[in-house]
Amino acid sequence: MSKEGVIYRISGPVVTATGMSAAMYNIVRVGNEGLMGEVIELHGDKAVIQVYEDTSGIRPGEPVVNTGETLSVALGPGLLTEIYDGIQRPLATLEKVMGSFISRGVDADGINMEKKWAFEATVSAGDEVTSGQVIGTVQETDTIVHKVMLKPGVSGVVKSAKSGEFNVTETVCTLEDGTEVQMMQKWPVRTPRPYKQKYAPDTPLITGMRILDFLFPLAKGGAAGIPGPFGSGKTVTQQSLAKYSDAQIVVYIGCGERGNEMTEVLDEFPHLIDPNTGQPLMNRTVMIANTSNMPVAAREASVYTGITIAEYFRDMGYDVALMADSTSRWAEAMREISSRLEEMPGEEGYPAYLSSRLAEFYERAGRVETMDGGDGSVTVIGAVSPAGGDISEPVSQGTLRIVKVFWGLDARLARQRHFPAINWLGSYSLYPQSLNQWFRDNIAQDFPEIRTEISGLLQVEAELQEIVQLVGSDALPTDQQLTLEVARMIREYFLQQNAFHEVDAYSGIEQQYKMAKAILTFRDAATKAMAAGGLLEDVVNVQARTDLMRGRFEEGYLGKIDALTEAMVSEIADTAEEN
Ligand SMILES: Nc1ncnc2c1ncn2[C@@H]1O[C@H](COP(=O)(O)OP(=O)(O)O)[C@@H](O)[C@H]1O
Ligand SMILES: [Mg+2]
Repeated sequence: MSKEGVIYRISGPVVTATGMSAAMYNIVRVGNEGLMGEVIELHGDKAVIQVYEDTSGIRPGEPVVNTGETLSVALGPGLLTEIYDGIQRPLATLEKVMGSFISRGVDADGINMEKKWAFEATVSAGDEVTSGQVIGTVQETDTIVHKVMLKPGVSGVVKSAKSGEFNVTETVCTLEDGTEVQMMQKWPVRTPRPYKQKYAPDTPLITGMRILDFLFPLAKGGAAGIPGPFGSGKTVTQQSLAKYSDAQIVVYIGCGERGNEMTEVLDEFPHLIDPNTGQPLMNRTVMIANTSNMPVAAREASVYTGITIAEYFRDMGYDVALMADSTSRWAEAMREISSRLEEMPGEEGYPAYLSSRLAEFYERAGRVETMDGGDGSVTVIGAVSPAGGDISEPVSQGTLRIVKVFWGLDARLARQRHFPAINWLGSYSLYPQSLNQWFRDNIAQDFPEIRTEISGLLQVEAELQEIVQLVGSDALPTDQQLTLEVARMIREYFLQQNAFHEVDAYSGIEQQYKMAKAILTFRDAATKAMAAGGLLEDVVNVQARTDLMRGRFEEGYLGKIDALTEAMVSEIADTAEEN
């Protein structure tokens, strides 16, 4: 058989070719226009291909050519600030070539092949170098140094290495055995990049969202799922994470759920400023955009493209956060392709391998010792959009079996305009055990205990509310009425957070701790005052408490919390004396 065959059958994005020799996952060019596709099944001399471009108009008998390559991404300086489609074609270049009218068979390099970068060699002649080792650096953006690494599997002794201005395909280092090393390397997206060992996570990814960091923390290198119905806040949450989380690199994979959602992201992101560095956020970001007019197969590939890029920056020793919004759209792409393949459908028509694909994806998260001996991580946060919010469906269930953090969005809270609409009773994190030491050492010795008290109060509130529903709150003893007030303070002052408010959108972890402490201080001061004859309504209504709660919308709040808390305590004490 030759490397060229012909189209035998077409079913949407799935094309069958005959007469072509191929291996699984080979990249092929389909039809007269040379559409890009990938071999996903082989039956005798028939190769089943998923095509990454619109297949309308192509016909049986047209040629199919096997390139012999596998679906790979180009890795090297120039990735940051880029916005790609699912197969790493830069949208800006595509637009230039095709206008806004999507034509087909367009090739576009994943990274700029001409641009010259100032390469600083960090190895010299005679050095022994091993697989994955850093051999030089490039200042890729104002904030990020790109570490140029040997491709995994390459090792030897350096014959020469030169600093200077190079593009990504020029040789910057030669080994004694004649191997020439360029800044760009290619990596097959469906194969995880190697590392030396996985570490247990012990550092939190600080997101600046109080309910997440304080109650349900995610570890650097961990995996989280955000399921929620339409309109509950998945995209807003993912975007807040992309903006504020303390990852050094962000990979954002967006699958627009409604018409112009992705366009909004593409318009907004390039203008955002990183609050930590004052530099454009795109300096640390790679975006992958699936708009609704892009073919499903490209959407299927997009998560692999994204996670491979994330692993590449991890290998440089960076903490990388990857957001996928929403993984349900990815699963639907799998379902569509599977049905074209006439595979036996599993639950709700998803292929039987759905849960293993989800597992393989999330398992690429982790904190690792890199090949270079450094420490890097990929944290994965996947949104899930179950129809009607019913998480008994396969994508939610498949996700929940793997991830260790579950941030459950709740339509009822969203309707009440309680944002972020994360249900504090239904969400969980399995990381606190491994992160507690970090919180004790870096924020406060009693951090875990304060967290336990706050979540305990929310549990008690839920129980009390059942009684209140039956008999009304006046029937409760005053200490329980106070507990309800404290819980209300937790919800309205601490858990609610406006993602669109300049100041409130981000809370540092130290501030979160102080706010939680202030709530417990309120409880203790109120208990004391009420024991001495103070009235609940007076205690609740002291001006200083209102000031404390409103202050969080003001610049410089962290520095004021202690004084505001003190003022509150003394005003509360006064209420006892008045009676
Ligand atoms: N943290 C938040 N702060 C303020 N408003 C929010 C927040 N989260 C969600 N919203 C509101 O809810 C709307 C829907 O959120 P969105 O993230 O688009 O939902 P989803 O992606 O789950 O469909 C937003 O447009 C916004 O008005
Ligand atoms: Mg959304």
